[in-house]
Amino acid sequence: MNRSEFMKLAFGASAALFSTRSFGFNFRPASSYDGPFTLPPLPYAYGALEPSIDKMTMEIHHDKHHQGYVSNLNKAIDGTPMAKMSLDDIVMSVDNKTSMAVRNNAGGHWNHSFFWKIMGPNAGGVPTGALATAINKKYGSFDNFKEEFTKAATTRFGSGWAWLIKDGNSLDIISTPNQDNPMMALAEKKGTPIMGLDVWEHAYYLKYQNKRADYVKAAWDVFDWNNIGKNFS
Ligand SMILES: [Fe+2]
Repeated sequence: MNRSEFMKLAFGASAALFSTRSFGFNFRPASSYDGPFTLPPLPYAYGALEPSIDKMTMEIHHDKHHQGYVSNLNKAIDGTPMAKMSLDDIVMSVDNKTSMAVRNNAGGHWNHSFFWKIMGPNAGGVPTGALATAINKKYGSFDNFKEEFTKAATTRFGSGWAWLIKDGNSLDIISTPNQDNPMMALAEKKGTPIMGLDVWEHAYYLKYQNKRADYVKAAWDVFDWNNIGKNFS
């Protein structure tokens, strides 16, 4: 192929791309969709949760997985009334008639935005104040609570989340599949999340491979009880 033939072919390919776009086909990758929602910055350095959660896992989890939920949510709500709704309102509206794209990606965006904030460096330890009192009242001790929460996190089959939720003044430990959230209209047990743990393999596989229980155990060293306590008050 000589240069002019090459240019003709290259130009033809570009022209074909423009023409398919103008007919309504869309070849943009999901990550290039602009929309009302944006990826919140991680509130600490990628490596700040080492050794419990490794730097590379945090980079991929935040920059790729969470970004994917944000971009796909923007795509799913583009041109719909949801484009003008808050993320909380979208999540709370999710019922069995909601599209899987909105359910998974609104849940994914909410759950991860929440998750980054309830962990931190120099964290771990035990809750204090009103949350400590409520946990002791419901579970007898922090150790019993830890055991119950760990059970919810390790026994969730496949991908999902373990949650501590509050409904009025009552606390409950539950788990949800995929990116479902306890605030969704379709949730079996509804409540406001106080803390949560992502048990998708993408949250731990690089460091822990199939040993989810080891990841759950290590997570207790990075839960930020100051911020978790604020979710309760
Ligand atoms: Fe995740």
